[in-house]
Amino acid sequence: MLEQLESLSAAALAELETINSSDALREWESKYLGKKGSVIELVRSTGKLPAEERPAFGKRANEIKTKLEAAHADREKLIHDQELAQDLEGGEVDITLPGRPRQVGGLHPSTQTLRNFYSIWADMGFQVYRSRDVEDDLHNFELLNFPPHHPARDMQDTFYTTTPDVILRTHTSPGQIRAMQEFGEGGTQPIRVILPGMCYRFEQITARSEVQFHQVEGLAVGRNIRMSDLKGTIAAFARRMFGEAAKVRYRASYFPFTEPSMEVDVECFLCGGEGCRVCKYAGWLEIAGSGMVHPTVLRNGGYDPTQWSGFAFGMGPERITMLKHGIEDIRYFWSNDLRFLEQF
Ligand code: PHE
Repeated sequence: MLEQLESLSAAALAELETINSSDALREWESKYLGKKGSVIELVRSTGKLPAEERPAFGKRANEIKTKLEAAHADREKLIHDQELAQDLEGGEVDITLPGRPRQVGGLHPSTQTLRNFYSIWADMGFQVYRSRDVEDDLHNFELLNFPPHHPARDMQDTFYTTTPDVILRTHTSPGQIRAMQEFGEGGTQPIRVILPGMCYRFEQITARSEVQFHQVEGLAVGRNIRMSDLKGTIAAFARRMFGEAAKVRYRASYFPFTEPSMEVDVECFLCGGEGCRVCKYAGWLEIAGSGMVHPTVLRNGGYDPTQWSGFAFGMGPERITMLKHGIEDIRYFWSNDLRFLEQF
């Protein structure tokens, strides 16, 4: 049986030398090394030998099997290389075809603006604090000095839910209360945070307003924080965001949770102040609401307003992205149209 095995192996190796295609190679493999291959069958019949011959036969059979497998692998590589070379020459693969470009994802323009915000505010010592999207009336309104029937609530049309007292936040300002309560340590510690996040308003969707949009709230609480700190800080932000030449103006305004309050405009550099559709022909674009934190709000956050003061602002990154890129319609942001998204 050993001789039979040796001559079978020799025949198999000789035959392998003549094989030149992967089909023929596959046949060879099943003929000799497959489950029913002749070499394998011989090995399997080791049991029929007298016991004393078995170890030597088994050992040799294994060597032969390993040798045939190695020879097969070599031949396979050779044939593969040959076939590839043939394909490349013979035109089965057209190597002049342009490659398929790999699709590379990109960051949403709002995300890019948000990240830009974070780094500018981080340089000025503001930490990011994420407050919740789902709020209650207490935080979204009452503690911010909007009493239940106050007309200022009309400024922010609210999405109520069927669950009592569960609403979607209409602005990021409720985060002011949460940040003061969480980090103020009972009104003893200063705070410098920005609160980014999605806000929701039950509004008519137009080129300028959406039912959901981001805001980035800022809050600084400390001793001796003054209006001039707010103005200087916002002006510094505008220069980083829009360039050294950016012009900013402040207009008196009203929010229940700040006193005094002001709105911040940047000169529209889509039109250079001339007036265009984006700035509603005003030459200026509103980028933030802001003001000095109202004493009542400080108190609700745990601070003594005779000892502490603060400023707050709320900005709209989508508005700012529109300004930076000359985007004329806010509805593009959440419409998921790749033709829009791929431009950023
Ligand atoms: N929360 C206000 C708004 O949504 C913006 C604002 C934030 C104003 C902070 C003053 C201070 O319009």
